[in-house]
Amino acid sequence: MNNNELLASLIHIDGVTKEEILSLLTQPKDLGYADVALPCFRFAKALHRSPVDIAADLAAKISEELPPFLLSCTALNGYLNFKFSREDMAKDTLLKVLREGDNYGHSDLGKGKTICIDYSSVNIAKPFHIGHLSSTVIGGALSRIFKALGYNVVGINHLGDWGTQFGKLIVAYKKWGNGMDVEKSGVRELNKLYVRFHEEAEKDESLNEQGRLYFKHIEDGEPEAMDLFTKFKEVSLREAKRVYDRLGITFESYNGESFYNDKMQPILDLLAEKGLLVESEGAKVVNVGDDMPPCLLVRSDGATLYATRDLAAAFYRKKTYDFDKCLYVVAYQQDLHFKQVFKVIELLGEPWAKDLEHIAFGMVSLAEGTMSTRQGKVVYLEDALDAAVQKAKEIIYVKSPDLDNKDEIAEEVGVGAVIFGALSSSRIKDITFSYDKMLNFDGETCPYVQYTHARANSLLEKAGDFDPMKADFSSLENAHELISAIASFESAVKAAADKREPSVVTRLAIDVAEMFNKYYIDNRILNAEEGVKEARLLLTYAARQVIRNALSLLGIAAPNKM
Ligand code: ARG
Repeated sequence: MNNNELLASLIHIDGVTKEEILSLLTQPKDLGYADVALPCFRFAKALHRSPVDIAADLAAKISEELPPFLLSCTALNGYLNFKFSREDMAKDTLLKVLREGDNYGHSDLGKGKTICIDYSSVNIAKPFHIGHLSSTVIGGALSRIFKALGYNVVGINHLGDWGTQFGKLIVAYKKWGNGMDVEKSGVRELNKLYVRFHEEAEKDESLNEQGRLYFKHIEDGEPEAMDLFTKFKEVSLREAKRVYDRLGITFESYNGESFYNDKMQPILDLLAEKGLLVESEGAKVVNVGDDMPPCLLVRSDGATLYATRDLAAAFYRKKTYDFDKCLYVVAYQQDLHFKQVFKVIELLGEPWAKDLEHIAFGMVSLAEGTMSTRQGKVVYLEDALDAAVQKAKEIIYVKSPDLDNKDEIAEEVGVGAVIFGALSSSRIKDITFSYDKMLNFDGETCPYVQYTHARANSLLEKAGDFDPMKADFSSLENAHELISAIASFESAVKAAADKREPSVVTRLAIDVAEMFNKYYIDNRILNAEEGVKEARLLLTYAARQVIRNALSLLGIAAPNKM
């Protein structure tokens, strides 16, 4: 039994199981109060007593006969606070990490539950630009975090592959484009054609009409239009997948907007049947309340919209995956869109409307150099990754000239820095990217954390095999904070999932790296006396493991040497 389980079997509350208590135990932010606490608010109703009284009573009872693994048990403001004996906690935590290895922090909390995560969701024939970075890496991290907690995760790339713009693109391609340029320059060429279309359409209004006609051809499945449309899609996806490979991201489904083309009518019919779909100036809308404009679902020319397809997609996902939650990792600019769509589903009386969640995030812009977003140019994510890797390379060739695989490490450091940068602050904040800042080896950055991992690794390599059973845990008194941080990894992963906030894991990785570095500087490890040496090596092992596991959840490599 570990410390938490021992605790749970000590606490007796009428009608509450040991498992429930175990799941309620939390690690407080401020370790001055407790290593672990039990909030007693949940029990108040059933016991007809205040949480303050419940906690005080339990504290008095447990303190009467304090078991040796506990230093103290006290009550404060409805919390039952425990402090573990330092030695016991060190032993418990470090041996657990040793036992569980790469699985430390994982659990089966979400077993049997399915969670759909709609993320990245790039637009076909449009640049995969840094605006899509956050959605891609937040969604990727959440997918891994939920998987680690035992959930069945369905990652969905809801491609933007429908709309009149594809008709326009075909017109532009037929007029000014050719297969070779598209083959060679991919989306950049398609984007150029699209921009040219709009320039020319300013002068020649009839182009727009042709664009609409060609989109109709796509809708009707006419071979020539379909061939071109499919080609554009292939070219775009090939490029996107190149980026996904570098970011370590995969999807369970690439069903985009076009997939729902034949799945909207039944829902429109249902809305009409229930009297929810009303005419408004020739268009069809659903009134979603006084605090929002009506949700437009069919335009006066009969065309459906982004919202119509999202509505069909939600029903399809519920039917296909029977999700417990469906998350949409999309920028906050689309707040209103999702509020409207969710409301329409609620008005239809679907109980699962409450399981749809918009996971909003702030804007990303680049601070410096030729790729400044301020110049109004789009920045391709692939270019941003290349630039970061190039910078990483310059640093690594100077810092570690003897390293074998410098280019490979530069890729891991550069790409890691971009991911880490996007996952460092809470997701709703706008972020300004600076390559210099995110590649600073001495900041709260990815290379700093990766470097700490490599440092711990080389120490362990130097030490060779050691016997953890010889560890004298009483010698780790001065590492209590670091050990608490290592112990809190499990609750951090859970909190990251609960709040849909990967930055909780990023933060913990930084904390562990900082504390380990300090410990490493202040304490001799390899030439400490027997018992102490093993304890310190075990601590090094656990710090390395937690950093590695945290980075892996974020989708970042942890090189063994740097
Ligand atoms: N393609 C959209 C965009 O780039 C994002 C789609 C998000 N997902 C969704 N189900 N609406 O803005």
